[in-house]
Amino acid sequence: MILAPSILSADFGRLADEIAAAERGGAGLVHVDVMDGHFVPNLTVGPPVVKAVRKATRLPIDVHLMIENADRYVDAFVDAGASWISVHVEALPHLERTVARLRERGAKPGVAVNPATPLSALEEILPELGYVLVMSVNPGFSGQRFIPSSLDKIRRLRTQLQARGLTTAIEVDGGVDASNIRALAEAGAEVFVAGNAVYGAGDPEAAARRLIEAAR
Ligand code: DX5
Ligand code: ZN
Repeated sequence: MILAPSILSADFGRLADEIAAAERGGAGLVHVDVMDGHFVPNLTVGPPVVKAVRKATRLPIDVHLMIENADRYVDAFVDAGASWISVHVEALPHLERTVARLRERGAKPGVAVNPATPLSALEEILPELGYVLVMSVNPGFSGQRFIPSSLDKIRRLRTQLQARGLTTAIEVDGGVDASNIRALAEAGAEVFVAGNAVYGAGDPEAAARRLIEAAR
């Protein structure tokens, strides 16, 4: 399993320390939530912050693009140091082109699906992906409550991947905490994004360690 702390819940004034603490606790990826105020009702950060994160840690950076016209910005995020990049299926009419570009640039291509988006939206693109990001909250904010039907969605995705002989990873994002991480792992998720559960309680190192233990 890979724990991917979301820096959206971290103290941005002490970002390097916050990331280092989660890394000591066993984090394997740094999740950066990019929001544009159009695709989602919130604004966050862009390539300059990814660049700063790149300098602060040796962990790979997982950029979650919750933006319209993501294809215009893919190169900038790769140049800033992102190695996993996910785009939303709901936001891109020419998804195949965007995924091909991610591959071309050497990034691990991911596609994110909102809670109301059926898995069938991924049917054609699935073999091209490094990972699927299953949203277990409606994207826009950290600290929201986990949507329970996401568990079954992950289970069904795992079954489909197996049936098609694909090794695509499943990442889950939204409301992940010590109470549901084990069930999510059993359902077939391998990458666990956690914002509030890592940075919400004051000791990110211990929180990361607890989550990893709970998943086992
Ligand atoms: C939600 C973001 C998530 C979020 C996770 O729009 O994509 O990555 O910050 O935060 P928690 O774990 O607090 O739900
Ligand atoms: Zn995210």
